[in-house]
Amino acid sequence: MSNNVIHQKFGLSKEDRQKIKKHSSFLIWFTGLSGSGKSTLSSAVEQKLHKMSVHTYPLDGDNVRNGINKNLSFSAEDREENIRRVAEIAKLFIDAGVVVLGSFISPYKKSRAEIKKIVGEENFIEVYMNTSLEECERRDVKGLYKKARSGEISSFTGISDPYEAPESADVEIDTEKFTVEEAAVQIIEAVQQKLKLT
Ligand code: ADX
Repeated sequence: MSNNVIHQKFGLSKEDRQKIKKHSSFLIWFTGLSGSGKSTLSSAVEQKLHKMSVHTYPLDGDNVRNGINKNLSFSAEDREENIRRVAEIAKLFIDAGVVVLGSFISPYKKSRAEIKKIVGEENFIEVYMNTSLEECERRDVKGLYKKARSGEISSFTGISDPYEAPESADVEIDTEKFTVEEAAVQIIEAVQQKLKLT
């Protein structure tokens, strides 16, 4: 389809853009069940980075699905397309010199491997929110587990749809053991060197 589309080169590089921001750019990816604490932790990490004068931007499943991805369902195919588009958006932000925080269930290993390919392995930090299904269901912040159990929502991750947990995430957060603040500190420590703050 894109055979006749040739990549256009611009005069400024990612490195030029990073230079005026005084830090590098990459993607911190939070994966886990609905209600596992992805967005909460992502927000806490973003606030810490902001205090360190790091230019950030959050991409979040619920928000993106209300906008650019509003035409996508929760079928396996559409979940893959959701993640593919978000990875391409993240790639643009990285090129712009911004640290991106992505919070998506992203239930398939294959899809998460695809993000790595799109943004580049060196630009991808995977954070696995290891919160048990029992705990997510107990919290049921959005009331969706209740609806999934009653059959009102079909193909719900963890109940009637799969979640393939990462085996070797860069950071694994046991949200039942650590507070949001403690977990945010763990992530900042994990990315500190990569930020190359000058
Ligand atoms: S993903 O699977 O494609 O990565 P994404 O993170 O964008 O999912 O969106 C997940 C959010 O959509 C959940 O937090 C929940 O609020 C909502 N949602 C609605 N229906 C479903 C469903 N069937 N499975 C999972 N999440 C759902």
